[in-house]
Amino acid sequence: MIELDLSIEISGFKMKNPTMLASGILGISIPLLKRVLEAGAGGVVTKSIGIKQRDGYQTPNIVETFCGYVNAIGLSNPGIDEFMKELQEFDISDMPIIVSVFGGSELEFSKLVSTLDKTDVKGFELNLSCPHVAGLGAEVGSNPDTVYKITKEVKKCSKKPIFVKISPNVTNHLEIARAAEDGGADGIVAINAVRAMVIDIETGRPILSNKVGGLSGPAIKPIAVRYVYDISRNVKIPVIGCGGINCWEDAIEFMLAGASAIQIGTAIAYKGLNVFNEIIYGISEYLKRKSYHSVKEIIGLAHKF
Ligand SMILES: Cc1cc2nc3c(=O)[nH]c(=O)nc-3n(C[C@H](O)[C@H](O)[C@H](O)COP(=O)(O)O)c2cc1C
Repeated sequence: MIELDLSIEISGFKMKNPTMLASGILGISIPLLKRVLEAGAGGVVTKSIGIKQRDGYQTPNIVETFCGYVNAIGLSNPGIDEFMKELQEFDISDMPIIVSVFGGSELEFSKLVSTLDKTDVKGFELNLSCPHVAGLGAEVGSNPDTVYKITKEVKKCSKKPIFVKISPNVTNHLEIARAAEDGGADGIVAINAVRAMVIDIETGRPILSNKVGGLSGPAIKPIAVRYVYDISRNVKIPVIGCGGINCWEDAIEFMLAGASAIQIGTAIAYKGLNVFNEIIYGISEYLKRKSYHSVKEIIGLAHKF
């Protein structure tokens, strides 16, 4: 019997299968991220880390809707110094771990990546897409020139793969993706949450303390599939799909659209860590049924139609 090959390598970042934990879902604790890998994930992405500690927004900062969650956590994180202590406390040499970083300028991104480059993390995801923090995330990531400059500067700070996570809340996503590619990015992650809000009809108040947040979960899946399809047809670097992936069929759909790997976020709230094995099993059965030998064979197959 021929062995199925589920492994994926994206610009030097190696994973035993194409499933990854999306940024911000399970924080930055290394033991917790190890548990995600033990649960089957091929790779993990940390919560986004900035230069300084941030408390984020007051509660309520997340609200469930019938089709997903709307969150405005506000990039709460302990800051790079604390995170470095966490990294130094554990052996991460065997971990396929990507660190997500955010900042307000090329300088901040470069400082974060140069500092983290000395550790055993395997690569970086530039969060140029957080939908709800002024001066950061999507506000920096909606200008192609800024995206180009940040990516270019960051590339000088590390030889490890640099992925740029882009926002659906821009009108020119292809320009942004091309700017990242021109700046030297090794991959695009598409997409972050979609700007959204929820109002309590009894009080008339927006529920989130920040009023506006980002919608994640099943509602955004078709939006994300279209971004992956569109971007992967227009750049040469690999695309990692993210947004509403909840089952193996969703994962396959993203890969057919052009994703080389897929990230799972909100589905963990619905299904727990078991979602990784469920998706991997489903992908394997699909590949066998269709007589493929490697998961790589299905990447972008929808492009030929
Ligand atoms: C509670 C929460 C926190 C998040 N924090 C981050 C973050 O720190 N950095 C980031 O790039 N994306 C963050 N995201 C966005 C996710 O990584 C992902 O792009 C988005 O949720 C869509 O995927 P999903 O539908 O599978 O959740 C967060 C999402 C949620 C729900």
